[in-house]
Amino acid sequence: MALPEGMRARLRLPAIAAPMFLVSGPDLALAACRAGIIGSLPANNARSIDILESWFARLNSELPADAPPWAVNIMVHKTYLRMQEEVDLAIKYRAPIVITALGSPKAIVDQIHSYGGLVFADVNSVAFAEKAAATGVDGLVLVSAGAGGHTGQISGFAFAPAVRSFFNGTIILAGGIGTGQAVRAAELLGADLAYIGTRFIASEESMAVPRYKEMLISATAEDIILSAALTGVPANWLRGSLIEAGYDPKNMPEKAPMNIGKVEEAAKRWRDVWSAGQGVGAIQSIEPVAAIIEQLVSEYRAAVSR
Ligand SMILES: Cc1cc2nc3c(=O)[nH]c(=O)nc-3n(C[C@H](O)[C@H](O)[C@H](O)COP(=O)(O)O)c2cc1C
Repeated sequence: MALPEGMRARLRLPAIAAPMFLVSGPDLALAACRAGIIGSLPANNARSIDILESWFARLNSELPADAPPWAVNIMVHKTYLRMQEEVDLAIKYRAPIVITALGSPKAIVDQIHSYGGLVFADVNSVAFAEKAAATGVDGLVLVSAGAGGHTGQISGFAFAPAVRSFFNGTIILAGGIGTGQAVRAAELLGADLAYIGTRFIASEESMAVPRYKEMLISATAEDIILSAALTGVPANWLRGSLIEAGYDPKNMPEKAPMNIGKVEEAAKRWRDVWSAGQGVGAIQSIEPVAAIIEQLVSEYRAAVSR
């Protein structure tokens, strides 16, 4: 196990509320931290750098010093033009954790370490995990099969032990984790933290529209469709939202051209078609983040004492 010193004592549950485009903003991140897990938001959910700055200021001022740390997700893809501005803000506000996605974390590791921040890199293969580990990151987020958003294709059962065999830093396991039992299972596989996205989309604090939240309540794992047709990268989508947007889930078009850095274009797609992971079945109602975490904690404790 390799959590940074002192971190476990600040967490009620070894978990991160994962960053989600158009879903997680400062309200969700703050609620997650207040309820005892690491809260996060993607920087590109802020329409402008000034808005992002106001979010960072809120996170720093509204959380007590002994609360779980907060995290910001920054796209490190070469087409993403706002990257360095976001990194500069993370430095200014001493973001406790920066989670990189869609590229190599190399360019930012030293910058974030300069003030004592941690860098966790999002990876979806063992080869990418090896490359990211070599850049000196503190943690690796293993995006496994069944994850919401741009999913990996490797089972978490195979992915976590494979990476643990060569990486001594923090391992965060993602993909279909929607219960406290699954959080415990992630630890048994060698992970230090669980990365939970989908379970929080139907929270009161999420920015998802009401119809999206309702669709999650009735969906099961069978309603999750894997397709690269929308963003050029394999992602998991809710069947009902594909149908409402005019797609035939049984006959999805070929892979779209990849255009990750263009946030406005991406927003159009993610606004009309909704993503979720295979853990969607755990969602039974729209609840406050604190209630979801309370349930996860009680399930986790029961699993630990078995
Ligand atoms: C709607 C949605 C949006 C997402 N947006 C992002 C994002 O902006 N950046 C990112 O790194 N990951 C993003 N993800 C992936 C999550 O951070 C996380 O890896 C995933 O939700 C974990 O799997 P789970 O949904 O099965 O819990 C998104 C996931 C979902 C469901």
